[in-house]
Amino acid sequence: MKSKIADPSLAKNGAKQYEWAYNHMPILAKTIENALKKSNFNGAPIAVCLHVTKETSALVMGLKKMGADVYLAAANPLSTQNDVAAYLDSEGVYVFAWRGENSREYQDCIRQILRGKPEVVMDDGCDAHATIHDEKEFKSLNPRGGTEETTTGVIRLKALEKSGKLRYPVIAVNNAQTKHLFDNRYGTGQSTFDGILRATSLLMAGKNVVVCGYGWVGRGIATRSRGFGALTTVVEVDPVRALEARMDGFDVMPMSESAKIGDFFITATGQTHVIRTEHIKSMKEGAILVNAGHFDVEIDVKGLDEIAKSVREVRPNVDEYALLNGKKVYLIGKGRIANLVAAEGHPPEVMSMSFSNQLLSAVRIYEKGKTMEKKTIDVPKDIDDQVARNALEAMGIKIDEPTKEQLKYGESWQL
Ligand SMILES: NC(=O)c1ccc[n+]([C@@H]2O[C@H](COP(=O)([O-])OP(=O)(O)OC[C@H]3O[C@@H](n4cnc5c(N)ncnc54)[C@H](O)[C@@H]3O)[C@@H](O)[C@H]2O)c1
Repeated sequence: MKSKIADPSLAKNGAKQYEWAYNHMPILAKTIENALKKSNFNGAPIAVCLHVTKETSALVMGLKKMGADVYLAAANPLSTQNDVAAYLDSEGVYVFAWRGENSREYQDCIRQILRGKPEVVMDDGCDAHATIHDEKEFKSLNPRGGTEETTTGVIRLKALEKSGKLRYPVIAVNNAQTKHLFDNRYGTGQSTFDGILRATSLLMAGKNVVVCGYGWVGRGIATRSRGFGALTTVVEVDPVRALEARMDGFDVMPMSESAKIGDFFITATGQTHVIRTEHIKSMKEGAILVNAGHFDVEIDVKGLDEIAKSVREVRPNVDEYALLNGKKVYLIGKGRIANLVAAEGHPPEVMSMSFSNQLLSAVRIYEKGKTMEKKTIDVPKDIDDQVARNALEAMGIKIDEPTKEQLKYGESWQL
């Protein structure tokens, strides 16, 4: 099988990107070093459908070091870093990814990695798992199991499991505490603004920022927004999370009201059409629309097209929509995951934890998948704890152990 990438001559630059990421991912380096002592993939094919970033190259090279034959496709048509794809190809990974794939090419790339007959399927958003379960060509594919990186992917897998059709166990990496508490919150919190600032080069201080969704991603974004000195409003549908947002010191109001005041709107819900044309029509001149959720469904981009007289790209990753009502609004990265389209995704330090969970979960699936229930399974606690311990060690932080007396006290009902 031959890779399909944008430009193999970018490999040298991709190697530098890999080196930079790897050198800032000591937790992953330690996880690989420890895993190598006990486990090996023995040449097994592994399909990886993740954003093709420098951080992912550190994970993929780790899988290779552990003896896997890796097939890589992107988890989003606009998130691939072409130099990283070229570097991985030069290292013998089968890569099917380039920035700017159209929808058909994106799906074809996923099919290509599945044609490698993977024993383990690592996914971000569930498009690879869905393809295996949906398409005739893959009906006989029988992997030992898989992993899933993100909230939206876990929701889709749970729906697949509920329909009784899930054919293999999948470890929900997103559900590890050392994943969503850090990656979703601090990773997306920072990198979403990295994307917004690279795309717009505008000042955040004093602006009105509306954050839709106060889950792990939303609260990370809202906190960083406040850090910039922006007046931050949260939109929610969950009463408990709305209350949390309010007591964390944010304004909370419905989308229809916040639409009138926002300078920036950032969606992070995993839901469809959270910002609709009725909201966009009431927005201020120059409002900027950003999506940080996994799929490009949170802002109604098709509806936006329909209420616009004209659309033009005014800066890389910024489209200006001249609306029929005379106002202009701006859309970042075509409404796709802004931190990966307009920036480089999460910083390596945080992906070091997420990908340690991915690697250890892939090992668990490879070694025990055939005996595991065909369900969406939480990351085993021993893996989660190990990643946290490795992270603390990498930061030079020591913690206490409970004494024997405390352990006994904690297990007793008598005082
Ligand atoms: N950009 C990234 O790199 C990145 C990283 C991690 C996760 N994600 C994605 O971000 C999205 C959110 O992830 P999460 O972990 O925060 O999920 P979450 O389930 O913790 O939070 C989502 C929140 O959105 C709220 N919500 C749902 N519908 C809403 C609506 N119509 N209006 C307002 N709020 C609504 C929910 O009540 C919930 O509180 C998912 O699509 C996830 O896959 C993106």
